[in-house]
Amino acid sequence: MKSTQISPIKDHFGRLLRDLRISVIDQCNFRCGYCMPKEIFGPDYAFLPEKELLSFEEITRLASAFAKLGVHKIRLTGGEPLMRRNLDELIANLIQMDGIDDIALTTNGVFLKRDAQKLKDAGLMRVNISLDAIDDEVFKEINGKGVVTLPVLKGIEAAEQAGLKVKINMVVKKGMNDEQIIPMARYFKDTNVILRFIEFMDVGNHNGWDFSNVISKKEIIEHIHNEFPLEPLEENYYGEVASRYRYQDGGGEIGVISSVSDSFCGDCSRMRLSADGKLYTCLFASSGFDMKEKLRAGMTDEELINEITGIWGDRKDRYSEERADLIDQDREKIEMSYIGG
Ligand code: GTP
Ligand code: 5AD
Ligand code: SF4
Ligand code: SF4
Repeated sequence: MKSTQISPIKDHFGRLLRDLRISVIDQCNFRCGYCMPKEIFGPDYAFLPEKELLSFEEITRLASAFAKLGVHKIRLTGGEPLMRRNLDELIANLIQMDGIDDIALTTNGVFLKRDAQKLKDAGLMRVNISLDAIDDEVFKEINGKGVVTLPVLKGIEAAEQAGLKVKINMVVKKGMNDEQIIPMARYFKDTNVILRFIEFMDVGNHNGWDFSNVISKKEIIEHIHNEFPLEPLEENYYGEVASRYRYQDGGGEIGVISSVSDSFCGDCSRMRLSADGKLYTCLFASSGFDMKEKLRAGMTDEELINEITGIWGDRKDRYSEERADLIDQDREKIEMSYIGG
């Protein structure tokens, strides 16, 4: 490692800034009802115009400041991040930075057959691929575009062949895909792919979230355990979002992400950057801190570092822990597709 000084920073509750999630585009080729319901994200929806998007140079400059403040892990998200052209060029810039030892991508997988090798060659290490059902009819309904599972399965295959580590994200929503929990577990058991079940969250303002549609971590684990006995595993790293389990018969590992029934704000080390250059200190935030205009107005590196230090230092977010008290308030939240999860 080169000699650049890395100075870790802490928020109001003493939580370190360790991860940066960068959304590179707010558009997506799918219309999953729990994220981008098509009644809202229709043909007239105003996505960000090209000139509002941060350039790769601007993203790299911001990321470099974050790396100096202790960020070691970068995740690229969307919308669907592979709808942003030449993403491999951004990855190649990010991986060169001192302190950055993990670069991952969250995607719906459809474009991975085309892009996986190029992304791996550029320096990408891991991909988390969304797949909420293994049954074509169920999946077609969920993604809102009538797309069958095959392109995603081909994407998973391409990612593995390219040497990327693969996790699968399955959002579980009552009445949508609860019947798919066991078929999905069976499909990915005895493979190198880690399947993670995600509790349906109240992100954004339009996904019709209701507590009665949430299937809790406890229910998910009990259900799978009855079919394929499980045992818990220790966390891989501080602040890991998923709780880990392994099949007792050696059939591999699964995870559960339980923002609703068992929140994990206590060690949340994530800052989020939107495609138009706003920083958000929580997935459920109402407003962000605009960096784009400041960058374009000539902010120096030192000013940038001071700005980020101030934003993180003031951070008091712990939405999932406060959900019960906040849920009835008419609070505007950023959309999932805008901030990338
Ligand atoms: P790994 O580095 O592989 O552990 O990635 P990850 O699970 O943090 O990222 P991914 O993009 O795959 O997200 C999986 C799910 O976790 C998505 O539904 C995210 O919205 C959710 N998630 C990630 N970070 C947070 C967080 O800080 N708070 C909440 N509430 N949910 C989060
Ligand atoms: N609740 C839980 N997870 C969600 N995702 C999108 N919307 C929601 C929601 N309402 C997941 C996607 C993707 C990840 C970035 O977030 O399926 O895997
Ligand atoms: Fe697109 Fe992912 Fe949202 Fe589905 S969950 S609409 S694939 S961004
Ligand atoms: Fe972090 Fe906010 Fe998620 Fe809590 S709800 S873990 S503070 S992003």
